[in-house]
Amino acid sequence: MHAIVIHEFGGYDVLQYEEVPDPTPEPEHAIVRVLACGINRYDLFLRMGGVKKHTPLPHVMGADIAGEVVSIEGDPYGLAVGDRVIVAPGFPVDPNDWEFKPENLAPSYTVTGTSRWGGYAEYASVPTRFLVPDRSGLAPEEAAAVPLVLVTAVHAVETLGEVGYGQKVLVQAGASGSGSMCIQMAHHLGAQVATTVGDDAKIEFARGCGAELVINHRREDFAEQVRAWTGGAGVDVVIDNVGGGIFAGNLAALKPGGIFVNFGLVGGVKDTLNFAALIFQQHQIRGSMMGSQAELLRGWGLVESGDLAPKLDRTFPLAQAGAAHAYIDSRSVQGKVVLLPWS
Ligand SMILES: NC(=O)c1ccc[n+]([C@@H]2O[C@H](COP(=O)([O-])OP(=O)(O)OC[C@H]3O[C@@H](n4cnc5c(N)ncnc54)[C@H](OP(=O)(O)O)[C@@H]3O)[C@@H](O)[C@H]2O)c1
Repeated sequence: MHAIVIHEFGGYDVLQYEEVPDPTPEPEHAIVRVLACGINRYDLFLRMGGVKKHTPLPHVMGADIAGEVVSIEGDPYGLAVGDRVIVAPGFPVDPNDWEFKPENLAPSYTVTGTSRWGGYAEYASVPTRFLVPDRSGLAPEEAAAVPLVLVTAVHAVETLGEVGYGQKVLVQAGASGSGSMCIQMAHHLGAQVATTVGDDAKIEFARGCGAELVINHRREDFAEQVRAWTGGAGVDVVIDNVGGGIFAGNLAALKPGGIFVNFGLVGGVKDTLNFAALIFQQHQIRGSMMGSQAELLRGWGLVESGDLAPKLDRTFPLAQAGAAHAYIDSRSVQGKVVLLPWS
């Protein structure tokens, strides 16, 4: 098969389009013909060596697989050869952890395509129990725009953020892959959503995801804008995928007793916490990593019912994975970028 193989960590040119052996059947695994594979910011960190202790080389990355079953062993869903599926974007890689609940707290839990080969390929071998039947009717490139940001949004917004009807929520980076899904999730749960973008060209996109207030963080102080939007009270929940550099602003936008959920670090991995302010404001600070299989299934149901939608910016042929990574680095993407192995 053809795949994007990395033999070393580094820039876009380490993404090499090559012929490699097809995956062979394994017990309790399925082989999936990859019709489309979504790219996540995580892939750029992995390519550069950010998670290299978990990634033996040569390696094929890719967490967001939409495809069809080619062969299958051990089948919890009654799937047949030819059926359309998506693959869980993270699961415990050690079979001894497969019964661990929630899966995203299992010792061997990793993002799909981190320590085992993933979806930047024509075929992938995945544990059958971590397939999800795809009866959405979506095109493969749309389905592949969903799984990782979907499970993230269910876990961060609904489970940890406890977002509910009538609340006000700030979601950072509203035109990002993860931000666009988190806005949709919060809006679906009945909240009013404020978000940030770094470019006026992204404002309409963020509104289309369900944001009521869209702030260009390059022109305006987002914390001031959010406080004004809430009549000075602050939002109930902040969902943050940026991390370092905006922590103080995020807490300034949050009401006393409000919930702060972080799952991303594009802005940096470190910031400063004022314990006195934390105690007096009684903020609840929560870290979020992917989500469980049950949360993925819950989210996928919302996609199948049309309550949540893929936000596909554009596709690239698999062979152009380097150009696709560069496009994501440009910060001009609105939603998701997806690779097509067979185009
Ligand atoms: N823990 C988890 O479960 C989980 C799951 C999904 C994603 N993540 C993390 O969440 C973050 C976002 O992921 P994503 O896939 O949604 O990213 P993405 O689609 O590539 O979007 C990232 C956006 O962040 C904004 N941004 C703000 N400060 C930035 C900076 N210093 N450098 C680059 N971009 C910056 C940019 O939007 P503007 O230019 O409009 O500001 C950019 O478009 C990443 O850190 C990713 O690893 C974590």
